Amino acid sequence: SKKAFIFDLDGVVVDTAKFHFVAWQKLAAELGIAFAEAENEQLKGVSRVRSLEKILEWGNKSIDQETFDRKLIQKNEEYLEMVETLTQDDILPGVHEFLLRLRESEQPIALGSASKNARPILKKLGIHDLFDAIVDGTDVSKAKPDPEVFLNACELLNMPAANAIVFEDSIAGIQAANNAGMISIGLGEAQNLSEADEVFESFLDMPQDYQQQLLNKTK
Ligand code: BG6
Ligand code: MG
Repeated sequence: SKKAFIFDLDGVVVDTAKFHFVAWQKLAAELGIAFAEAENEQLKGVSRVRSLEKILEWGNKSIDQETFDRKLIQKNEEYLEMVETLTQDDILPGVHEFLLRLRESEQPIALGSASKNARPILKKLGIHDLFDAIVDGTDVSKAKPDPEVFLNACELLNMPAANAIVFEDSIAGIQAANNAGMISIGLGEAQNLSEADEVFESFLDMPQDYQQQLLNKTK
């Protein structure tokens, strides 16, 4: 049978989560706000604007709109400088092979990301054309954990939500998948992603027979 395979981008397909972390940490430091792994975990999957709002909330700080906008532009410029260094080697282990296997068996594949930089990043990595549909931060109005991004992806693939499998590294993204009634598979540390239907440290840890079982799995 066919499933809709929906992939998050940052931290699932490519190792850009570390770049977001560095850029947010620098911005927080400039505002005198503490920012470590635990805070970063809360920002994964969260839109650019909402991320800065959260950082300000944590630091109990407010800034005027102009400063807010300027900080975000600066954060994105620093992020994109790091993105410039990306090569195919930064595709996370096992992802490329998995995508190719899915294509071989003619399974529909989509990207479902909060990032507004998703399309250029996929092109840079040379894997843009492996996706039948792309929904990113430029296409949606409601951010994860709202299911909009994944529901839109299913619609573009012409597949029902109940047949979708979502791969996510973020808490917000796992919640979005669950809210959409989709199977949620976490990539990362099980303790962070306890709401996922299943968690693997990486695609390399996903057994071949599990990949096969996915085709028949229901929520
Ligand atoms: C998500 C990342 O994929 O995209 C977040 O997990 C990031 O860390 C968000 O803030 C928005 O990305 P961008 O590229 O539009 O700033
Ligand atoms: Mg992610």
